[in-house]
Amino acid sequence: MATKLAALILLAAFIAGPAACEGASICFNGWLRLPSYNPRLCRSRPDIQRRQRIPSPSGSGLSYGYYNSRCPSAEKLVTAAVRKAVAANPGIGAGLIRLFFHDCFVRGCDASVLLTATDSNNMDTEREGPPNKDSLRGFEVIDEAKAAIEAACPGTVSCADVVAFAARDASYFLSNRRINIPTQGGRYDGRESFANETDQLPGPFSNVTELQASFAAKGLTSDEMVVLSGAHTIGRARCMFSSSRLSEMDPAFAAKLRAQCNGDDNTNVNQDDVTPDVLDRQYYQNVIDRKVLFTSDAVLNSTETIAQVTENANRAGAWERKFERAMENMGKIGIKTRGDQQGAEIRKVCSRVNN
Ligand code: HEM
Repeated sequence: MATKLAALILLAAFIAGPAACEGASICFNGWLRLPSYNPRLCRSRPDIQRRQRIPSPSGSGLSYGYYNSRCPSAEKLVTAAVRKAVAANPGIGAGLIRLFFHDCFVRGCDASVLLTATDSNNMDTEREGPPNKDSLRGFEVIDEAKAAIEAACPGTVSCADVVAFAARDASYFLSNRRINIPTQGGRYDGRESFANETDQLPGPFSNVTELQASFAAKGLTSDEMVVLSGAHTIGRARCMFSSSRLSEMDPAFAAKLRAQCNGDDNTNVNQDDVTPDVLDRQYYQNVIDRKVLFTSDAVLNSTETIAQVTENANRAGAWERKFERAMENMGKIGIKTRGDQQGAEIRKVCSRVNN
């Protein structure tokens, strides 16, 4: 009951805006149109306030070819499901890459983002959190792959690994096979998921310092933050996250957005107007040309990060290799492995914990 109430307050705060956040410890700062970060209105999380980078995730317990002997068809079954989904709708591939990011940043890569039924019977899971609700997509691809895998080798392959393999495969297909992320297996699934913990995800109104801090809190560098932001070269976003900054954009791009959005905050627009369905380095040229949607994209033009942006825009192949490494690193955040008997398992169905 208390959790339900907390989630309701959170949602109301998200809708009502910054004033409603006064005194709240969780405020989804970065997901609200604050004029600038104001600690009186929104106290950000202590780990983010510290702005210290924790050590890079070690990934200890993970290995390549983890399922070769345990379930030889596992990775192929994921690839088949992703290939089919991306061929039908490239946007689902974008959704799968984002799903992996949102899984790993909250409770580590433990498939907590997929849960609707948890150990504590909490109903307000990550899926209900403001960054995820009515936004994440690709769940049905994960479910299809998992069902095929369970039929071949029951109780062997975790949902967390399915999410990681699916992000790898979506990146491969959407990049026209130019990006191939080395992806280890061996993650276990968590048994808890809480909507309020999605405040660890950086928001579209974040400035550079906030972006760096939220990645540092997960053991990722500022470079990795810039490199991973390149995923905004595919997929879509709701107008509510860009309509307040049209005047800061390239005028022709802004005019096109204004026409497409037509005053409706919930309309979706492509993130990359040039090559919307290709995972390529176009994003960085868009940052330079002021043809990006979010504050969090545009601020990469700042002195601290512009050198990486320019290099990623100009050096063919450089960003693709860095993206592979950064995605692999992200897949090591907070993992649970075979040794963690408490609170970790191989789920049978990805949306609910085993009994
Ligand atoms: C750097 C901080 C980031 C911020 C502030 C951010 C924010 C957002 C927002 C607000 C959306 C649109 C959601 C909607 O309108 O419903 C979005 C979409 C997306 N983001 Fe990010 N994101 C960030 C980093 C990342 C990273 C690291 C990845 C993956 C590696 C990623 C992948 C995507 C993709 C692929 C989409 C499109 C999803 C779809 O079409 O379904 N983002 N992001």
